[in-house]
Amino acid sequence: MAEIVSILNLKGGVGKTTTAINLGKALSRLKKKVLVIDNDSQANLTHGLGFTDFSKSVYHTYKDKESLPILQEDEFFHIVPSQLALASIESEVESDINRYYILADAIESVKKNYDFVLIDCPPSLGVYTINAITTSTKFLITTQTDRFSIDGLLEVYRFINNKIKKRLNSNIELMGVLITLFIQNTVATDIGLEELEKHFPGKILNTRIRHTTKFKESTIAGEDIFTYDPKGKGAQDYENLALEILKKNG
Ligand SMILES: Nc1ncnc2c1ncn2[C@@H]1O[C@H](COP(=O)(O)OP(=O)(O)OP(=O)(O)O)[C@@H](O)[C@H]1O
Ligand SMILES: [Mg+2]
Repeated sequence: MAEIVSILNLKGGVGKTTTAINLGKALSRLKKKVLVIDNDSQANLTHGLGFTDFSKSVYHTYKDKESLPILQEDEFFHIVPSQLALASIESEVESDINRYYILADAIESVKKNYDFVLIDCPPSLGVYTINAITTSTKFLITTQTDRFSIDGLLEVYRFINNKIKKRLNSNIELMGVLITLFIQNTVATDIGLEELEKHFPGKILNTRIRHTTKFKESTIAGEDIFTYDPKGKGAQDYENLALEILKKNG
């Protein structure tokens, strides 16, 4: 049965999309069958992986309840692309009677084909994020160690506990808190780490994704980090993250 994982933080720019791409790729390199869904109208994941030539996207799933348009990069790594037009139908989706279950219904028929479905979410708690959380077995929060990222993380956590667990999905569990864009040995980092440990004892993943400019370069090239810089610390960190997650999730 697939582990369906929403990748979340209310704060923008904290490595959600980078994690969806490279954790997905790392798991697929370990021969896990992975579907990565770009659930964000910014379509950063789609563009970051260099996908430009496709006729259908998650937009058509939300708008016309079409099945998920799956693109197969190789046997183990599949993606559902997004497009900017998704932003223009948000209020239409919000008034749909089935608004929080559209993604769940679409994933239902394909989830048996995968070990992991990773859902890249926008930095908001709007209808697209709620669709992802509603259908997920787990959520993974990415964060830097600064005040605003931690505030964004706490807000998502409260939202899931207070709103989602009561009504839409009582079974969802926190997979972990992943520290991204990590810069070691600064006073601010140490204070942030201490605060995170206080709020989420035992839930901070041991693997931290270190800061490296190679990630920005790789998205400009339209490549994942294993293709762009296979020997660098970015590839190393995401491989370690995949191994840690596989160990903890059987
Ligand atoms: N470990 C890292 N080191 C350095 N730069 C990184 C790292 N991870 C991500 N980045 C860069 O930081 C920027 C933001 O990352 P990303 O797009 O993954 O964040 P996000 O949380 O998905 O943002 P949004 O909320 O807007 O969707 C990108 O330019 C990305 O290449
Ligand atoms: Mg993103």
